[in-house]
Amino acid sequence: MKIIYFSGNGNTKHCAKEFSKLTGNESVFSIEDEGAIQAIKKSDFFCFAYPVHFSNIPFIVRDFINNNSKVFRGKKVFLIATMGLFSGDGTGCSARLLKKYGAEILGGVHLKMPDVIGDVGLLKKSPQENKNIIKNTEEKIRKTADLINSKKYPQEGLHFYNHIAGLFGQRLWFLREAEKHRKNLRTDVEKCTGCALCEKQCPTKSIRIENGKAVLIGNNCTICYRCVNSCPHKALTIIGKRMLEQCLFKNY
Ligand SMILES: Cc1cc2nc3c(=O)[nH]c(=O)nc-3n(C[C@H](O)[C@H](O)[C@H](O)COP(=O)(O)O)c2cc1C
Repeated sequence: MKIIYFSGNGNTKHCAKEFSKLTGNESVFSIEDEGAIQAIKKSDFFCFAYPVHFSNIPFIVRDFINNNSKVFRGKKVFLIATMGLFSGDGTGCSARLLKKYGAEILGGVHLKMPDVIGDVGLLKKSPQENKNIIKNTEEKIRKTADLINSKKYPQEGLHFYNHIAGLFGQRLWFLREAEKHRKNLRTDVEKCTGCALCEKQCPTKSIRIENGKAVLIGNNCTICYRCVNSCPHKALTIIGKRMLEQCLFKNY
């Protein structure tokens, strides 16, 4: 099964690769890769994976679907939503949008992964707890891949009651917050060396080095946390005021 994914910090990429290994070892494309659209055009059936952001699809994923709406007509899609704690309808959010553009949703699964909000302490776990979360999720991926291989598709996040849980559990309260955080990237100018790693890695090209320091530009930040978690000098924050832990999958 071909897999198209977005991953800010590596969690979703890891899950996408594990799924691919267990479902025929077909190619895996990030939506940031040039080949992603062609890959979708060439497949009748593919898997679409992304992290849940405030019980919703990340802005960059929503834009990707809206901007390429024509390629989804007639495609069969299985959805994977990774999350830190709670996702009422993480898969349901993209399912509704993709259905609007003519896709058929075969099923979906929610996968718990380590938290990635490196500047907020609330959901932080010990390294061993994170390892256990990943191990349990890999087991869930194996079971789900077996089901997919026998054409049985779990329906996590796709029922009406999931929609209500996602909406009232989080989305209604956090929609405005999420929009606000898009303008929130802050640079500690004492720590920032202007190395430009954040600028190179930003999936929405929302960071530029000006006068030797990282600055947010435009309105497209998708709050994925890649810059915050990969800054070698821990100079960036978004929601919190202080960098606490660099939460990249490769660090676990
Ligand atoms: C801005 C933001 C908002 C998030 N909101 C939620 C959420 O509402 N529910 C949840 O369970 N996890 C939430 N998470 C956690 C991520 O969904 C989870 O850690 C995911 O696996 C990260 O994947 P990635 O490494 O591919 O970016 C959020 C993460 C970020 C950065």
